[in-house]
Amino acid sequence: MADTVTGAASDLHASGDDPSRRDFIHIAAIAAAAGAVGAIAWPFIDQMNPSADTLALASIEFDLTKVTKGQQVVVKWRGKPLFVRYRTEKEIAEAVAGDTAELRDPEKDAARHKAGKPEWLVVVGVCTHLGCVPTFGGGEYGGWFCPCHGSVYDTSGRIRKGPAPKNLVVPDYAFLSDTKVKIG
Ligand code: FES
Repeated sequence: MADTVTGAASDLHASGDDPSRRDFIHIAAIAAAAGAVGAIAWPFIDQMNPSADTLALASIEFDLTKVTKGQQVVVKWRGKPLFVRYRTEKEIAEAVAGDTAELRDPEKDAARHKAGKPEWLVVVGVCTHLGCVPTFGGGEYGGWFCPCHGSVYDTSGRIRKGPAPKNLVVPDYAFLSDTKVKIG
């Protein structure tokens, strides 16, 4: 940009115009063009900012007192179902026992819950095969069963049988208190 201004100024010298005035006109024209680009670019940049709605969905807080032991609540998060499960002692024991099994997607149960609270399991409720929503209580591992093609998950949400390649995904989440989690 500086080269353009310099070159224009020397041409104007040769034609006998007042160089300082013409330089000013050229610089002003360049500045106006830059301003126009800025004005065009802004709406695009502005549109890239997430809306308040999107931000609200990006992370959610969930009150765990809504879930009773042995049950799960399905929460919608980023357009997907999220299973918030309050596991029983039996479910936890089965999940820990599964740590030593031959797992397709090896992961210890302890790595799938947070804050030393094994009773709470939070997973994305989407089968890692082709995206169906598994149901709890089916299959021989006491966890989730996906009716689409028969994938079976255990009480830790780990894939144990069927075509799904991966465990149910544990999303980013944190405990805000003993009874509240923030997901996302
Ligand atoms: Fe779940 Fe195919 S989508 S087994």
